[in-house]
Amino acid sequence: MPAPVRKAVIPAAGLGTRFLPFSKAVPKEMLPVVDRPVIQYVIEEAVEAGLDDILIITSRHKKVMEDHFDRHPELEAALEAKGKTAEAEMVKDLSSMAKIHFVRQGEALGLGHAIGMAREHVGDEPFAVLLGDDIMRGPVLQGMVDTYNEHGSSVVALMEVEPENISNYGCAAAAPVDGAANTVKISELVEKPDVEDAPSNLAVMGRYLFTPTIFEEIAATKPGVGGEIQITDAMASLMGREDMLGFTFTEGRYDSGKKIDYLRAVVDMALQREDLAEEFRQILIDTVKREGLV
Ligand code: UTP
Repeated sequence: MPAPVRKAVIPAAGLGTRFLPFSKAVPKEMLPVVDRPVIQYVIEEAVEAGLDDILIITSRHKKVMEDHFDRHPELEAALEAKGKTAEAEMVKDLSSMAKIHFVRQGEALGLGHAIGMAREHVGDEPFAVLLGDDIMRGPVLQGMVDTYNEHGSSVVALMEVEPENISNYGCAAAAPVDGAANTVKISELVEKPDVEDAPSNLAVMGRYLFTPTIFEEIAATKPGVGGEIQITDAMASLMGREDMLGFTFTEGRYDSGKKIDYLRAVVDMALQREDLAEEFRQILIDTVKREGLV
């Protein structure tokens, strides 16, 4: 059995240019989906998969993320005084849901560079990476941890996209692994290929599980597409030394750093909430009728 996966790294230091003007002063990872910021969903997913040591890669403009996961004694006391015990507990729980650490990326030099900032904290252990603006519902991360435990290789989440959209993603050429459901072996990785050059329509989707060897490859990676240090390039080099597996899935992923996907996330999460679903469903029905959408 390979070394257990205990740590998760959440890169959240990007500039968020696709979500301007909101993201000018408030991190896109703090966008509310119903009543929780996006990054809280991401941390809950890591904790559910058994990873309770969490390192958030942040930046000088994003201090509010640290406050969200800190204690707030005045608020807790005010809620207690009003008899709002459940709310007080909820606020307290945010600081104890996991061991949450922060490190700053001084300059947004790319996702690969952001993950490289975790080297000292992670040390010589396997670790998961969950993008801080990416909500994932369903057991994808757990499936990746199980796949790692069985094979001992790095694993990346993969989903098929429409062929014309592949140039927005890292793209993988891969073949099924016999007898292992949802598992493929990756033979080639390219960052944002032109549609006509793409080796497949399998896109890399916001969740990674790496052996610590990735840090050596990141350190040797030069800026790639967009002048950024790309994790896809570091992964492609890692494949010269170790196997790289893919864990395939088909639904439940929301890139909330993209406006249209953020809206989809809000609608779907609200419909999953016992306290809101009934009323919200009626609002959707009324809107569809009023707008003549069907
Ligand atoms: P994105 O590419 O979605 O983030 O990176 P971005 O660069 O902030 O977005 P746009 O394209 O300008 O809108 C995925 C995740 O990686 C983090 C982001 O914060 C996001 O959660 N990231 C990206 C970093 O931490 N550092 C970087 O240098 C780049």
